[in-house]
Amino acid sequence: MIHARGLVQVFTTGKGKKKREVRAVDGVDLDVAEGEVVGFLGPNGAGKTTTLRMLTTLLRPTAGTATVNGFDVVADPVSVRRSIGYVSQAGGTFSQAQAGDEIVDHGMLYGLSRAEATRRGQALFSELQLDGLWERMPKNMSGGQKRRLDIVMGLVHQPSLVFLDEPTTGLDPQARANLWEHIRRLRTERGATIFLTTHYLDEADELSDRILIIDNGRIVAADTPDNLKAQVSGDLVALEVADAAAVTTAAEKLASVSGVNGGGRIEVDGRHVRGRVPRAGRAVPGLLRDLDASGISLDSIEVIRPTLDDVFLTLTGRSLRDAETERDPGGDPTEIESGFAAPTSDESSRRTEQEVAR
Ligand SMILES: Nc1ncnc2c1ncn2[C@@H]1O[C@H](COP(=O)(O)OP(=O)(O)OP(=O)(O)O)[C@@H](O)[C@H]1O
Ligand SMILES: [Mg+2]
Repeated sequence: MIHARGLVQVFTTGKGKKKREVRAVDGVDLDVAEGEVVGFLGPNGAGKTTTLRMLTTLLRPTAGTATVNGFDVVADPVSVRRSIGYVSQAGGTFSQAQAGDEIVDHGMLYGLSRAEATRRGQALFSELQLDGLWERMPKNMSGGQKRRLDIVMGLVHQPSLVFLDEPTTGLDPQARANLWEHIRRLRTERGATIFLTTHYLDEADELSDRILIIDNGRIVAADTPDNLKAQVSGDLVALEVADAAAVTTAAEKLASVSGVNGGGRIEVDGRHVRGRVPRAGRAVPGLLRDLDASGISLDSIEVIRPTLDDVFLTLTGRSLRDAETERDPGGDPTEIESGFAAPTSDESSRRTEQEVAR
């Protein structure tokens, strides 16, 4: 559904001597198959939104190529736009109309009849717990309600490919869980392909078939959540040995099944022995038999699976690094001034968007 090769986005900011170039995206290759849910992670300023804006045709790539749903993002942006849903990180600015009317208009822009757009819109309102808000003006909604309205807007035309840029930021835990459920159903019931960014690693872990991690504009990892966790750190196995005299032997036994990080660094503290094991689920039964055969009894054994947080920290250094020190947001000469599936910042661009969709 998505194929990108060598995608680059260079922003030029400032004038004269202050002119600077920012390589926000620096040679990104990615392939997303039909029906996949892909989590796109990376610290602030890593290039996630910029990549999404190129794939959704809002920003022309400085270099590289991409096809989305089989359409080239540069040669055929209208077909790309018509075949996807996009929920932008900033969210939409809505007109003075009632929320329901906005949604119906939006559905009709994508070719739905009024009746169908109303039916789908109302079903989404109900699923995303916006019941009773159909006639409310978006400006009078709470932040989380408005965020969910953005999501309804991105989904009402039932696109087979959906781009979601931090969809759950600002949602309360219940609304978040609800959206997760919805995303799962989009995939299982409709076979939709979903490409989402998030800073919640538990969310990425929970939802994604595959995770891409971007840092400084480059993809630094791409794999299933389980493989990423196994590669980076392995599971932590913590033994509490009953008899202090047996600690050294227990440490040797644990070292024999540990292979990560230079052949198994084992920590010993009193009767506690800890070490990383690539796949503890497979190794621990044998380890227990081995300890038992050597007459070593344990008071406890604990297996702690690494979190995506561990992976993220290992690959990108810090979880919330803000690259703003090196980079300077500002004007952007290559920016295309029109939004579409998620409305952009003002009425005039919203009109452009409608013209484009027509
Ligand atoms: N229009 C622009 N002009 C100049 N620089 C820009 C522009 N848009 C983004 N940048 C810069 O490009 C880099 C990547 O930004 P981007 O918005 O893609 O990051 P992100 O990964 O989405 O971050 P976040 O997690 O904070 O949303 C940042 O350094 C940002 O300041
Ligand atoms: Mg972003």
